[in-house]
Amino acid sequence: MCCGGRCCVSMTQCFFDYSTSKVLVIRSKSVGTLNRFCQAVVLAYIIGYVCVLKKGYQDTDTVISSVTTKVKGIALTNTSDLGLRIWDVADYVIPPQEENSFFVLTNLNITPNQTQTRCAENPGPGSTCTSGRDCKRGFHDSRQNGVQTGRCIQFSVTEKTCEVLAWCPLEKGNDPPDPPLLAEAMNFTVLIKNSIRYPKFNFNKRNILPHVNSSYLSQCVFNRTTDPDCPIFRLGDIASEAGEDFQTMAVHGGVMGVQILWDCNLDMPESWCMPTYTFRRLDNKDPDNNVAPGYNIRFAKYYKNGGKESRNLVKGYGIRFEIMVFGKAGKFNIVPTLLNIGAGLALLGLVNVVCDWIVLTFMRNRQQYSQEKYAYVGDFGLLSNEVTEPSGTGFVEDD
Ligand SMILES: *[C@@H]1O[C@H](CO)[C@@H](O)[C@H](O)[C@H]1NC(C)=O
Repeated sequence: MCCGGRCCVSMTQCFFDYSTSKVLVIRSKSVGTLNRFCQAVVLAYIIGYVCVLKKGYQDTDTVISSVTTKVKGIALTNTSDLGLRIWDVADYVIPPQEENSFFVLTNLNITPNQTQTRCAENPGPGSTCTSGRDCKRGFHDSRQNGVQTGRCIQFSVTEKTCEVLAWCPLEKGNDPPDPPLLAEAMNFTVLIKNSIRYPKFNFNKRNILPHVNSSYLSQCVFNRTTDPDCPIFRLGDIASEAGEDFQTMAVHGGVMGVQILWDCNLDMPESWCMPTYTFRRLDNKDPDNNVAPGYNIRFAKYYKNGGKESRNLVKGYGIRFEIMVFGKAGKFNIVPTLLNIGAGLALLGLVNVVCDWIVLTFMRNRQQYSQEKYAYVGDFGLLSNEVTEPSGTGFVEDD
């Protein structure tokens, strides 16, 4: 009758056998030290890294969030095209609302009073001509401003180009004004309202913290040292926190990232769960390889001028602010705790394997250790009826 690799007299005896391993204790300072050292390393890993640092006893969830923004501020410009002009939110935030981002106009080139007529195309390949034969009636491509009429006309005193049917006068490829037209955008402020949720823990919070009242909110501006909880940001501060100069960036436009980090330990009081704000520039600003710098958009304002449709074309440069919300929350849960304890115990077991291997492979007395550790037994034959008790496997009778 055989079971579990051992042979027993009967089923009942087999059932009531309890097998336990025999332990070989090696009284050696070096192996003992090695063993304790490995155990200490594993324990330090389990306690220090898994439990304390990685919080292995917690279940985690990632944040879901919603963001709304409201920009405030007024700028005054005085240009030859527009005269004295006030810019408010409806003028410089384009479009009025976006998802997780907002665009603030900081600089512009205006081509005023365009109408649909004929004029000379800007000089360039495909448009410079010497006679009407160089221009093809009805021809147009994506680099040109209109449809060619087939005539070659004077563009300037020295240059001739093909005539086009287009919004005339054409936009000139001027560089954006420097300093930027809406330099005052630096002093605009934006209120960023961010509500977050950790669905697994049914936890909700927003970045207007419970202790912030409306009178504080109406006059505070975010400052990392004095007002770290204020959700109102000055655009100039956002740029300088990211290590950028707002006025330089405002000339050609760009993209700024506002990162809101919500890392929460929900085993702790709820008030400890706070957002942290960081800022960085997202578009390329490398001055050595900046072929197409910044960010610009075109839009037009249409009006009727004596019954004729006219428009003011604006090439607007501005900064787009992208709001990115990150975060992870953790809360005690028995399942990951047990999983990590189990993994830790398995690692502790591995220490024995490592020490055994070192003892039996590298120690001076490895032969002796090996003899003590392994008991070798011969072949007792397949058909033997005798119950044999080899000395290596200790059967202990209990009366
Ligand atoms: C921003 O506001 C400050 C203080 O109100 C003012 O001194 C500064 O000139 C303003 N900056 C711009 C570019 O208008």
